[in-house]
Order: sequence, then C-alpha cells, then structure tokens
Amino acid sequence: MARRHRLNRIRKLSVMDDYTPLPHQKAFHQSDAKYRAMVSGVGAGKTLMGSKEVIKWTQLYPGSLFVIGRLTAKALRETTQKRFFEICPNYLIDDFNKTEAKLWLKTPKSGVYSEILFMHLDEPGPLGSLDISGFWIDEAHEPDGEEVPVTTFQMLMARLRHEVGPHRGFITSNSGGKDWIWNYFFDPKKIARDKELLRRYVDGEIAVKPATFWSVNVPTSANPFLPEGYVEQLKANNPEHWVKRFLDGSFDVFEGQIFPEFDDSEFSYELPVLERHTYRDHEVEISPFWRKERGFDFGVTAPTATIYGAVAEIDGVEHLFIYDEYYQANAEIELVAKDIKQKGFDYVYADPSTQYKGADKRTPADLYMSEGIVLLPSTNNEDTFFTLLHRYLRQNTIHINKDRCPNLINEIKSAAWDSSTVKGTVGREKPRKDLAHPDHARDALKYLMLGLGAFEGQNALNPVTPGNPVETRQGQDFNDHPSYYEDEDNDCWEDLMKGNEYYGII
Ligand SMILES: Nc1ncnc2c1ncn2[C@@H]1O[C@H](COP(=O)(O)OP(=O)(O)OP(=O)(O)O)[C@@H](O)[C@H]1O
Ligand SMILES: [Mg+2]
Repeated sequence: MARRHRLNRIRKLSVMDDYTPLPHQKAFHQSDAKYRAMVSGVGAGKTLMGSKEVIKWTQLYPGSLFVIGRLTAKALRETTQKRFFEICPNYLIDDFNKTEAKLWLKTPKSGVYSEILFMHLDEPGPLGSLDISGFWIDEAHEPDGEEVPVTTFQMLMARLRHEVGPHRGFITSNSGGKDWIWNYFFDPKKIARDKELLRRYVDGEIAVKPATFWSVNVPTSANPFLPEGYVEQLKANNPEHWVKRFLDGSFDVFEGQIFPEFDDSEFSYELPVLERHTYRDHEVEISPFWRKERGFDFGVTAPTATIYGAVAEIDGVEHLFIYDEYYQANAEIELVAKDIKQKGFDYVYADPSTQYKGADKRTPADLYMSEGIVLLPSTNNEDTFFTLLHRYLRQNTIHINKDRCPNLINEIKSAAWDSSTVKGTVGREKPRKDLAHPDHARDALKYLMLGLGAFEGQNALNPVTPGNPVETRQGQDFNDHPSYYEDEDNDCWEDLMKGNEYYGII
C-alpha cells in the first residue's frame, strides 16, 4: 500500500495550529449529544470545526474508524478532504491510500492507528457493510439542489457499532430549507418530543436512554476571521433570498425554491398590512361588501383543501385577502361541504377534472352536489398561476391570514422545482410533488386565483369545455378524476376498496 508522501507540499495555515474555537464552535465541541448538526451561512467555520472534531476523536479513541462524507466524490475530494489535510497536523498522518480514500492516523497508543474513510454519500448502499465509530457529513446540500438522502443518514446511524467508540455523528451544512436535517434537528415539535423522552428516561419511566440531538443555526457573521467587508459585499451584490439562505442560514430559503420572495418573517411586520404578504387575525376586517370567492382541491385520503378569499379595491388597486382555509386529510365530504355552507357559500372553484367520474362512477362534482355545493370548473394552468402569484407577491396585492392559513403559507414556502429543473436538464419546469412538498392548499389557491379571471382574460373560463380529460393509464377509466390515483398521497380509493395495488402517480 502506497505510503503517503509529498506531505510537505500541502499548504498549512498557521492559524490552524492554535485553534481557538468561536462561541458556536465551542458549543458544538462541548455538546455531548449523540448527534449534532450545525446549519449556517457560508464560511461560518464548519469545515475547520468538523475537521478538528474528527481529529480529536481519532486521538481519544485509538483504533477507531470514521467516515467523513459529502454528496459527490468530486466535491469531497476538492473541498472537505483537501481542507482536512490542510488542517490535520503532518505528524499525525501515518499513511493515505488515495484509491480507497483511506487515511491512517497515529494515536497516543503506539502501534494503534485510527482510520478515516472519505466517502461520497449519494447512495447508502456501500455503507451497509461497515461498522464505524463515528461520522461527519459535510454540506448535506450542493448548490444544484441535490442533497445527501435521508436514507444515507439513517444508514450511518445504524452502522455506529464499531468495537471502539464514540458512536456519534454530526452534520454541517448550508441551509436546505425545511428538509430532513430540519426535521431531525430543528423542528420545534421534534425537539419537544426528544425532551419528553429524555425526561421519561431520567424519571426512570423508560429504561433505554434515547438518542440525543443537538443543533445550532448560525449566520456567516458569527465568524470574525473572514476577510474585511466579506459579508457586506456579498449582501450588497446578491438578491435577498440568496442573502437569507447563504448568509443568514435561514431555513425559509433553499435551492429551487419557487417563491423566494414570499416573506412572512417577523421583520415584514414592521411594514403596514398592505405592504406585506401575511397579516394577523385582528389586523384586517373582511367587509361584507367585498367580493368573496373560494378555491377547492379535491382529495380522498390526501388532504382536501378550501381556500377562502376576498377581493377589495383599495386606492384603485385590487387586493386579494386570503382570510381562511380548510385543510383535512381523509376529509368527509359532508363536513367539507358543511364548512363551505357555514361560511355562507354554495360554490367553489375547483380543478376542471372534478367533473370526471371516479370511484363508484360518480364525479367529485356529483358527490359535492349531493351535499349542496357546486364545484365550478376553474382552469388548471400551473404556469399561469405561478406567474400570477409572483406578480401578486411582487406588487404586495395578496395578503394571507397567518393565524388561519398555516397550510397555505407552508405550501407556498416549501414550493420547489424538482432537481432536474434546477439543473436545467428538462425543457419544461416542473415543481416537486411529494410528501415533503405538498401542494393541496396551493392548488386550491390556484383554482381560486384563476377562477377570479384575474389574468387579464388570457385564460378566461369556458364552462362548456372546462378542460382536457386526463390521459388513459392501464386499468384506469379514461375519464377518471386523477385524485383517486394520487399515490404521492396514497390517494387510491378505488384500489383500497378492491384490495388491488394502486396505479401510481399521474
Ligand atoms: N475559530 C477559528 N479561528 C480562526 N479561523 C477560523 C476559525 N473558524 C473558522 N476560521 C476561518 O474562517 C474561514 C471559513 O471557515 P470554514 O471554511 O471552516 O467555514 P465553512 O462554514 O466550512 O465555509 P463554507 O460554508 O464555505 O463551507 C476559514 O479560513 C477558516 O480558517
Ligand atoms: Mg465548508
């Protein structure tokens, strides 16, 4: 096996030799949680900190084996691995096998070495046969929107059973929005659940100590060692959503985001209601004289959503107030209809395909008609809707009730292009549609906005030919309503009734 040579050619920065951690780095090093995550703006000091942590582990646990990973082999070699070698003192390095990307470090125990494997993490497969002492995932998100899959993280957690400890892992990354890192480490509900489990362990109610998770979210400005003016210049030369994601480390902005301009932050509340995108319940009174309309997205097991809007002309400009939403999975038609009726309405704008027949040969429109609600066919043109919503947001002519419409707000914030669109490998832009990127309330808003006929008549409604029927798929009636088959949401009514496999996504 080739001995490592030419070590002297690796540039070492003198600052690395006497590392004094910044407060956020210190908090990270001192945390005793089994899993840790630092999500930050660019250059907050993640790679330096992560390298130091792994080097510390190799010395504290002689004979241990660590994985340092990044999504792609190229990014790993050119960034994290390169930096690691800059940071790791030469005297510790015993050997490096370039082909296997395997490094042996000397330890305080003579003749005992700790090993580090540099691995790309685009698929969990190769990890399946490893027993490891610890791991570090650097940059779970790449700039093109690709990310280390959650299955890789799960596999790494499952491989922590090398005979030598510490059996811990950590992640450092730029923000990728409300992704799996957020779900595991930052979601307040998950943090509360973890706390409760720990309490039950401490109180002796459960015998096994739960895995502990620690996280911190820091902006670039937390690192004073960056060149003078670095943050200020980036701030001045980049759009606001870039600044939010790459300097503030905000979870509300991510690659491929469709509506980065949407702002419901606390800062936006310094502006008057008509200059922001959301408002609090008490701030706007919906006048009985304003025109009111509804948008509706039909679901079976997937959520059914109704979005309630009112149009008001203020100082010659039309403003759309979204004042309420109904959002319910496995919704009973009777209850949805009741909600609409109780609010004083007997029709909603809906997907034109709600006029096609579904299970038991009745159309969603028929089903709602028997509850006294008319599903008026709107248009289903996503491009037009996106253009329109961008315009409303830019001009501050849409205002959503933040207290009453959490699902709609969440679906506007999480709306994302799929990664082939981000990379530009497909001609036509396609939004992501999966459980992490639901679009039910957004669809309801689409039918509402297009139903208003607000897009300068370009897509004026035609009640005679409401839309084109969906394409035929194997085993599916030509005119079936697609919601019956949405496997994205396991929306497979007919198959459940028949006990068949369902047919998959449209
Ligand atoms: N505690 C520290 N003491 C001295 N310099 C530091 C410290 N922390 C970070 N730095 C320096 O700040 C710069 C950025 O650090 P680093 O590359 O670790 O950040 P990062 O968060 O990984 O950046 P990126 O987001 O670009 O991957 C480097 O030059 C690093 O040496
Ligand atoms: Mg880095």
